[in-house]
Amino acid sequence: MSVHTPIQNWGIRMTMHDPIAQPSAAGRWQTLKVLTAGTHETLDKRIMAARPFENQERYALFLVIQHRFHQAIDTYYDDATLNALIEDLSRRKRLDLIAQDLADLGKMLPSPSEPADAVDPAEKLGWIYVAEGSNLGAAFLLKAAAAIGLNAAHGARHLAAHPDGRGKHWRSFTTVLDSLAFSPEQDDLVCQGAVKAFQYVHRLTDETYDAMAG
Ligand code: HEM
Repeated sequence: MSVHTPIQNWGIRMTMHDPIAQPSAAGRWQTLKVLTAGTHETLDKRIMAARPFENQERYALFLVIQHRFHQAIDTYYDDATLNALIEDLSRRKRLDLIAQDLADLGKMLPSPSEPADAVDPAEKLGWIYVAEGSNLGAAFLLKAAAAIGLNAAHGARHLAAHPDGRGKHWRSFTTVLDSLAFSPEQDDLVCQGAVKAFQYVHRLTDETYDAMAG
């Protein structure tokens, strides 16, 4: 895909008639949020339709999706260029917490999925936006997990708020995200990364739940 591929051609729910969907002078974070709102919503619905909080066995499948996604992008958090821009980036990883959640439930680590294919740091940042944002929505998931006996110290560690506070931790990320002096080409790559990340998680979700049904 060319870096100049127009945003409205990426298969995301955006049209030329949607006034908020137009590329604009909005900040980078808002652009990513609007760009991925449709794919986030269908992912959220797909996961909730699989009733991940009905019991711990079903929740473990959600952990498999999370582990495979976070493993696929683990090295992105170590990218030297990005770490020079985002001071706490490598400390934001949650892969180990997901692994501990699986261990709490007596589950083995899942086999890795195919590695994510971003090369440019700007595109990696788009993937990281998706992983970081998912921790914001995790406030809701943590509450649901309590109903099946899980909490921030057992089985739902990766859904816990950061010690700094969930909102504050997220805002510190989006503030840096918005402040980066990127070229239009780099901005396109950030968007492509976020779109691809959601597509990747959709695919993992389908694979995981289809295997359960089969
Ligand atoms: C059942 C599953 C999910 C539910 C119910 C859910 C729910 C939510 C909610 C309520 C928010 C907004 C939180 C706020 O503004 O305070 C949010 C944000 C977000 N979620 Fe999810 N989410 C789910 C799964 C996921 C997954 C699997 C991913 C990606 C791997 C993801 C990525 C994001 C991102 C990137 C944001 C930040 C959007 C932004 O403000 O820029 N979510 N989610």
